[in-house]
Amino acid sequence: MVFSSGKNVHAAAGTTSRGGDDGESVLAPGDNYFPVSPDTLNPDSLTDFQVYLRRGGRFVLYTKERERFSHERKERLVESGIDTVYIPYHQQSSYENYVFDNLEYILRDETIPIKVRSRVFLDTTSRQVASVFEKRLPALGEDSLENIRHVVSSSLSFLSTPEAMENIGKFVSHDYQTFTHSVQVFSYAMMLMHVLGRDTDERLLIDVGIGAILHDIGKVHVPTKILNKPGRLNEKEWGHIVLHPVHGMRMCASVAVSQTSLNCIMFHHEKYNGAGYPSGMKEKEIPFYARLVACCDVYDALTSKRPYAPAREPYEALKIMGGEMDGSFDPEVFTAFIRMLGGGMKP
Ligand SMILES: [Fe+2]
Ligand SMILES: [Fe+2]
Repeated sequence: MVFSSGKNVHAAAGTTSRGGDDGESVLAPGDNYFPVSPDTLNPDSLTDFQVYLRRGGRFVLYTKERERFSHERKERLVESGIDTVYIPYHQQSSYENYVFDNLEYILRDETIPIKVRSRVFLDTTSRQVASVFEKRLPALGEDSLENIRHVVSSSLSFLSTPEAMENIGKFVSHDYQTFTHSVQVFSYAMMLMHVLGRDTDERLLIDVGIGAILHDIGKVHVPTKILNKPGRLNEKEWGHIVLHPVHGMRMCASVAVSQTSLNCIMFHHEKYNGAGYPSGMKEKEIPFYARLVACCDVYDALTSKRPYAPAREPYEALKIMGGEMDGSFDPEVFTAFIRMLGGGMKP
């Protein structure tokens, strides 16, 4: 799971922290701190949390609230070989808000190691989606939609790079949770848009991204015990599941979600051969971006461990999609998806 405890987010690999003496350090008692990469701190913006260095078993204050984590301070850490700083747990939400606000800055900075950016992307995006799912509200609020729009637009250029394509796969969660699944489907969908060459219209990318991230939002209206049932579903239970696209549509009725996003929510379980739900549309009757999300959705589900099925390896998942599920996917989309997994960008 990407961030369930919230205590391991953004943690960098273990380090030995030395140096960084700025002449204004104070010792803080206890060890109630969580590690983060200093790369996630933007030298040009103010923080409203404290940043500590670790020396031996003690934590030493490095910057205070409302202080800039300046270029100079950052440089000093690099020179001292320090790649982990610490933030008090009681200021965790301030740090998370800060990363959310600075997400585009962090993801665009190519001097930050790709593994740090991939982790930040998955954690920050998952947190926003989780908050939408956890609220279990009857309808999506404008503020939640704005937060989703923010993480989508902040991630676009990052998700267009071959490095992101290579690295996100290493960090994706293989334990199925609706919110991690949603973020992973979003990542695949954006990368697939690039492979298909449909990446010139930023507004379209954002609309498809929002649709991908919210495609299963209607599952908040499906009882958890049905979603988590290990065995086969009976007819009544299945009746609940097939309604989630319609619930999702309804939940978005009073916010400004585009038709493209709505199509992804409503039609992501349609199959190219007409055997899907809720409408049974087929081939080109199904909106294109719903066909695209459908392919990403099934691949991510197959490669994740679910209550009723083990996680498949990528090649096994593709074999199932092209074998027993043959006819379910738009051939153009499925071919591009295979190319994407092989690391191929658009010609
Ligand atoms: Fe779904
Ligand atoms: Fe899904």
